[in-house]
Amino acid sequence: MDKFTISKARRTDAIGREVKLQGWVRTRRDSKAGFSFLEINDGSCLANLQIICDAERANYETEIKRLSAGCSVTVVGQVKESGGKGQATEVHAEEVTVHGWADPEKFPLQKKRHSFEKLREWAHLRPRSNTFGAVARVRNCICNAIHQFFQAEEFLYVHTPIITASDCEGAGEMFRVTTMDLAEPPKKSGQVDFEMDFFDRPTYLTVSGQLEAEIFACALGKVYTFGPTFRAENSNTSRHLAEFWMVEPEMAFYDLDDNMKLAEQFIRHICATVMDECREDVDFFNQRIDDTVADTLATVADRDFVRLPYTEAVEILEKSGEPFEYPVAWGENLQSEHERFLTEKQFKCPVIVFDYPACIKPFYMRVNDDGRTVRAMDVLVPRIGEIIGGSQREERLDVLERRMAEQDLNTEDYWWYLDLRRFGTVPHAGFGLGLERTVQFVTGMSNIRDVIPFPRTPGNAEF
Ligand code: 4AD
Ligand code: MG
Repeated sequence: MDKFTISKARRTDAIGREVKLQGWVRTRRDSKAGFSFLEINDGSCLANLQIICDAERANYETEIKRLSAGCSVTVVGQVKESGGKGQATEVHAEEVTVHGWADPEKFPLQKKRHSFEKLREWAHLRPRSNTFGAVARVRNCICNAIHQFFQAEEFLYVHTPIITASDCEGAGEMFRVTTMDLAEPPKKSGQVDFEMDFFDRPTYLTVSGQLEAEIFACALGKVYTFGPTFRAENSNTSRHLAEFWMVEPEMAFYDLDDNMKLAEQFIRHICATVMDECREDVDFFNQRIDDTVADTLATVADRDFVRLPYTEAVEILEKSGEPFEYPVAWGENLQSEHERFLTEKQFKCPVIVFDYPACIKPFYMRVNDDGRTVRAMDVLVPRIGEIIGGSQREERLDVLERRMAEQDLNTEDYWWYLDLRRFGTVPHAGFGLGLERTVQFVTGMSNIRDVIPFPRTPGNAEF
């Protein structure tokens, strides 16, 4: 007899098979005719499987009739055609083994719907709900699509460090890593002496793997890194986490135009793969969470992204007559309300804004001939705003040193980064895609805390 997943047992080609299924009970209903229906779920798909248990089973009165939501079971039985609505098959149980009970007085996930806020308090149980099961499957599918895409394009997957001494984004929003006793740190001339710390210098959790990815791109051509990144920004928004996952491709001999092309193909590939492989989950999100999700995915798959210089974006926003909360002005960052206006109202599709003012972007972006803008690009999508941030990198040593000085960065700390410009420098470019914002985009989930298993935000690190 074969161990089957519920996803497999729901297909008509399973009819007639003797199977073993293992999962958790969602509901039990008893019929007056002397048998019971169980709905069980094992996470292999959104849908449950109906199990029919008749009263002849030895443990019918003692166990089966006591089953409730959350109990874990093994069911052995035969797959049959089902007359029921919304299901092609059902299983007639020959044996039901109970592994674990879940006291219905205490188990929180009862039939009634809970708010996402409430479910965050039960992050250890929420994967057992329909929504979080679907999010987990879509997230997995996206990660797989990311690797598939870059591997097919012949990129090398490289691992960049989590612990670092450099602040890639220059925003100073880093978590410190130390083994020093915070109550009594070693001191030298009244200052904390980091030479006595584990790494002999101040170290942090990385905000981006880009600088190290550049090292590998400048030797091996096309690479990508994909891992957790950390930002200690104190922003309690629906699009910011303190710990999030980012995929960062970096390509030698790419300019900004090549970079934009790649980003567009990449997002397309992710959307197409999710539509293809997670149809049932996408339909669920479209019905229950946001009824624009399926259309958005289809639009992304077949419309070119708009490319818009920052200066033109500012002009459009200024002329729009929209009552923005934050004013628009050349030289200021676009706020998410501005980004959403461009993608949702003005163009109704993803927009790549490029050539941003140098004064609002990090030191490593290539300076344009106008001297005021840099070869930056942000990919904006409806509902989310920025999903990708990237740029062509400054490959000219003298310009890079000047930019670092302007931003008060110590060139000695970045000696190895500057060496890449001293020895065989090449034009190169790359970008970073936020995984959680991508999951939000594809599922329609409005809060980023609900698309990562265990969200880390200011004040929250339970689980
Ligand atoms: O625009 P960012 O800051 O770019 C970089 O870090 C570059 N070093 C990437 C590169 O060129 N290799 O971040 C890239 C993306 C953003 O567009 C956003 O999707 C996501 O990372 N992101 C966050 N996601 C969740 N929570 C946060 N606090 C995020 N900050 C950035
Ligand atoms: Mg950015």
